[in-house]
Amino acid sequence: FNVPTPHNEPVLNYAAGSSERALLQAALTEARSQQIDIPMYIGDKEVRTATKLDIRPPHDHQHVLATFSEGDEGTVKDAIAAALAAKADWERLPWEQRAAIFLKAADLLAGPYRMKINAATMLGQSKNAYQAEIDSACEMIDFLRFNVHYMTEIYQQQPPISPKGIWNRVEQRPLEGFVFALTPFNFTAIAGNLPTSAAMMGNVVVWKPAYTQIYAANVLMQVFREAGVPPGVINLIYVDGPVAGDVIFNHPDFAGIHFTGSTPVFQTIWQTIGNNIHKYKSYPRIVGETGGKDFVLAHPSANAEVVSTALVRGAFEYQGQKCSAASRAYVPASLWPKVKELMQRDLASIKMGPVEDFGNFVNAVITEASFDKLAKYIDAAKADSGVEVVAGGGYNKTKGWFIEPTVLKVNDPYYVTMCTELFGPVLTVYVYEDEQFDEILDVVDKTSVYALTGSIISQDRYAIAQATYHLRNAAGNFYINDKPTGAVVGQQPFGGARGSGTNDKAGSMINLLRWVSPRTIKETF
Ligand code: NAD
Ligand code: ALA
Repeated sequence: FNVPTPHNEPVLNYAAGSSERALLQAALTEARSQQIDIPMYIGDKEVRTATKLDIRPPHDHQHVLATFSEGDEGTVKDAIAAALAAKADWERLPWEQRAAIFLKAADLLAGPYRMKINAATMLGQSKNAYQAEIDSACEMIDFLRFNVHYMTEIYQQQPPISPKGIWNRVEQRPLEGFVFALTPFNFTAIAGNLPTSAAMMGNVVVWKPAYTQIYAANVLMQVFREAGVPPGVINLIYVDGPVAGDVIFNHPDFAGIHFTGSTPVFQTIWQTIGNNIHKYKSYPRIVGETGGKDFVLAHPSANAEVVSTALVRGAFEYQGQKCSAASRAYVPASLWPKVKELMQRDLASIKMGPVEDFGNFVNAVITEASFDKLAKYIDAAKADSGVEVVAGGGYNKTKGWFIEPTVLKVNDPYYVTMCTELFGPVLTVYVYEDEQFDEILDVVDKTSVYALTGSIISQDRYAIAQATYHLRNAAGNFYINDKPTGAVVGQQPFGGARGSGTNDKAGSMINLLRWVSPRTIKETF
């Protein structure tokens, strides 16, 4: 079988006066006007409980957008039972039938569901229209289409040699048991990719999203069902993380976890799995994409405009809440005055506010807890004589969790905000002496406890080569003369090592191979 050749979904721009803008505004108005009650999806049932929690837009925390039902241990057990009940039929379905279901899901998102999924991501996660479009529409569609393409390549890979009278072959079996997809708030596409990539390879899945992403997860689930994912193959539940983990990681049929989220949570999960290892039928697959503290390193030869744009876009798009966000920068002294001036100019023109006003580049951070944490770091920086607040530094939570894009310049390359993942719109800059480029390479590498993304900005080929080699373990996605965000499925497979995860590259064949267990068959005639 040849599946349709995948291509990257074109990005709609929602320009003022365009029909796309009008459609998206209508979807936002409709979503805001209906206070839906979101169910969990277990087997063929929509499950509601007496425990109702509110979903409120982070930029408008007095408005109740929707409610959802919270489940408990029993809910997790029901979801596992539903998954296991669906397993035999799902894994027997020919893979091209599974492929067709996920290609249809991609088409539904590209067409009839596009505005709905973008409106849900905008309202639930406080993303502006462009950020929602590149995430919940384009990246999600790309994940589905490219994963189907990689899947077909995996099924077609066979041993090259079968001597006369022998047929050697490899069967790619789904894992024996169920897969747990545990997903983060910040990308709707990642939330949707984790359950679907495992399911595509014939697995059954229990999916628990972050509570702050449920509003869009509910739309994705409607798409998956309409596309033909059978009941029980993907079960969507809303249960407190540790409560869910306690049931899942003690279950003998637990076969793997597909996780994206913070490093400490992943490390706790890994430890729990290790402690329970004797309980499982097979060694579970542990796949985790975790935190980041991503860098931009400018060389003295760099173009100041390129540096400034990489920093403003890399650090402040989606309020710096991308795992890939530029949150620390190293700028040579000769370039700093110009870079500072350009950044101050650009940041002065950036607007902050609710997503419904399409002119706002910056929206709210995800929760009050995140707002409070960021405000604390900003206050500490303001009180520190070794730190200069170059831009921003303000915050306001009257209506939403708004933090101004903030640039701090520090004297110490090991200052706390140079090393800690804050996950918000705070960029810390260290200015180094031009002749210390070699030394700064060492500092960048040493402080890369995480190793997700990073950029070198330079017009000097030798410096580019030097940085590319020296920082080879400091970033799983390395950019030359660009911001460190915005990896595109099918072009730059995404993921990092060190504290940033198992580097199984989301949206790639490497990732899909983690969801199958090959059986080699030798037949003698
Ligand atoms: P998080 O770790 O708080 O939550 C992730 C998921 O784990 C959620 O569903 C949450 O409910 C659940 N969870 C939390 N504690 C748990 C526990 N003790 N047991 C079981 N489940 C638990 O992460 P988040 O705030 O949703 O997302 C932001 C983090 O994700 C950042 O650190 C970011 O860098 C990272 N991230 C990484 C990538 C990547 O590709 N490397 C991509 C996106 C986000
Ligand atoms: N694809 C997202 C980025 O690279 C994670 O920013």
